[in-house]
Amino acid sequence: IPLERFRNFCIVAHVDHGKSTLSDRLLELTGTIEKGGNKQILDKLDVERERGITVKAQTCSMLYNYKGEDYMLHLVDTPGHVDFRAEVTRSYASCGGALLLVDASQGVQAQTVANFYLAFSQGLTLVPVVNKIDLPSADPPRALEQLESTFELKPENAVLISAKTGLNVEEILPKVIEQIPAPVGDHLKPLRLLLVDSWYDNYKGVILLVRIFDGTIKAGDHVVSFATGLKYIVGEVGIMHPLETPQKSLRAGQVGYIYFNPGMKQSKDAKVGDTFTTVGSERLVEPYPGFEEPKSMVFVAAFPVDQGEHGHLEDSINQIVLNDRSVTLQKESSEALGAGWRLGFLGTLHCSVFEDRLRQEHGASLIITPPTVPFKVIWNTGKETIIQNPALFPDGDEGSSKVAELQEPYVEATITMPEEYLGKVIELCEVNRGIQQSLNFFTSTQVILKYLVPLAQLVDDFFGKLKGATRGYASLDYEDAGWRKSQIVKMQLLVNKVPVDAVSRVVHTSQVDRVGRQWVKKFKEHVDRQMYEVIIQAMAGRRIVARETIKPFRKDVLAKLHASDISRRKKLLEKQKEGRKKLKAVGNITIQQEAFQKFLAK
Ligand code: GTP
Repeated sequence: IPLERFRNFCIVAHVDHGKSTLSDRLLELTGTIEKGGNKQILDKLDVERERGITVKAQTCSMLYNYKGEDYMLHLVDTPGHVDFRAEVTRSYASCGGALLLVDASQGVQAQTVANFYLAFSQGLTLVPVVNKIDLPSADPPRALEQLESTFELKPENAVLISAKTGLNVEEILPKVIEQIPAPVGDHLKPLRLLLVDSWYDNYKGVILLVRIFDGTIKAGDHVVSFATGLKYIVGEVGIMHPLETPQKSLRAGQVGYIYFNPGMKQSKDAKVGDTFTTVGSERLVEPYPGFEEPKSMVFVAAFPVDQGEHGHLEDSINQIVLNDRSVTLQKESSEALGAGWRLGFLGTLHCSVFEDRLRQEHGASLIITPPTVPFKVIWNTGKETIIQNPALFPDGDEGSSKVAELQEPYVEATITMPEEYLGKVIELCEVNRGIQQSLNFFTSTQVILKYLVPLAQLVDDFFGKLKGATRGYASLDYEDAGWRKSQIVKMQLLVNKVPVDAVSRVVHTSQVDRVGRQWVKKFKEHVDRQMYEVIIQAMAGRRIVARETIKPFRKDVLAKLHASDISRRKKLLEKQKEGRKKLKAVGNITIQQEAFQKFLAK
């Protein structure tokens, strides 16, 4: 099939607007998968399927006969969620156009807007598709009006479908062929290949999803990565049809998979956005621009409840990290909780998907701390440090004069909602230290609001609160808005004047009193009375902001027993010894480890 009869496209949509359902229909229509067979082939991972969201981009090639000629269509699936913006951008870069899919009952939503601008800025041709027209609440004319007023997409170009029933789905592929341009590229030029995605296979190692811009690639070729400089020998090339289907070669314009032999050792060597070429052609090829390392913006610490579980847990964390090169992993040890890990994620959803996966496997035997974000310290010397672990944040002890400025990460949030919820949403944004950027009506009743919001507020279940405030009618998207100066301070929990290392957090000064009171109250609930008085304090910088006291109590298990009751007496002493093992010394007192675990668990 010649290049002119290739089309690479993706589906741009808000979460739940039916992207996976439509993909399935298109694959069925082209005979790539059986009708009613393996549903939602593109959403491979279980957790994704459960949550109904696409996390990793997957792609699939289809053969389609149009006016007597065969076309090779590559449907590149894109993650629907904002945390994966780098992946979305790479997926778009491998396409000539996109279906802009909108739910007829909901209309344009925050991620439709954000993804539209991203696709538009990449020069993609957009074909509007209005889905779910079978729903009683569907309002196709309104959706069309929104598409026109927001994106200047003409209603007469749109296809109205039901991905569920299959109605009108057959009208889509002709539009793809007519409107979306064929990829350009020269298969005679030196190889220039963009890495779009990767995943791990137990037998083949790391598999790369690639878009060939120029040249051809086949098994046995020697290739080199521009990002890492590492060289590889190609073991196999092929297309996803719907799963890995080997081909003799892949050439300019195509989207397919490759893997190496010997295989790529670590998934983190597969950098989305990296360019590869043939060994020897490095000087002849311009790498694809704008390659960026993924940045971890949300961190959690994970500990086994029982340190005996450490090895087991480590295995499964490693297994998950293997499949997701954007998760960062560091060992961490805490006096109160033992040995564990600090994990970094691209964003909140990314983090919660991972957490779900771990909890499914390990259930109650795992402690995961609430998410935190990185902070930046600019020292008087001009040096900048980004601090991921709140325990390492300066607490004023080293002399406040050494710190010139503190900064925290912000995001620009795009929120869409019906007008009636505007007041509540603005209130929510203000409470979360938001700074309003703009407010626009995109139809007479729908509002788009833009706010700068500290990422620290966003990770504190902002989305949940937003849904709550709007009965689920608001939608949210956000993107990185850089660092901003902020009045932040390190908070610590003290037990009898000694700081507890595992319990520290960086918070905005406006919140220290509230957080302080919450902390001491919650911690008190979990601490048993002791032989000595226990003072629990919350400290912000060097200042104590809250305090609780636990009165002493002499725990004499033998007091109530008769002296002759020897065996019972022994048993009780045994039991007490057992209990003591689980105690942790903090200052001059001991506290059950469980108290920390309960306090720290979300
Ligand atoms: P992400 O993977 O999170 O981006 O979601 P998605 O856009 O892939 O949505 P998905 O295809 O999973 O569909 C979301 C829900 O809408 C599912 O419950 C589908 O069954 C339903 N749905 C999809 N298309 C239609 C349709 O045409 N009509 C109706 N009534 N429901 C549909």
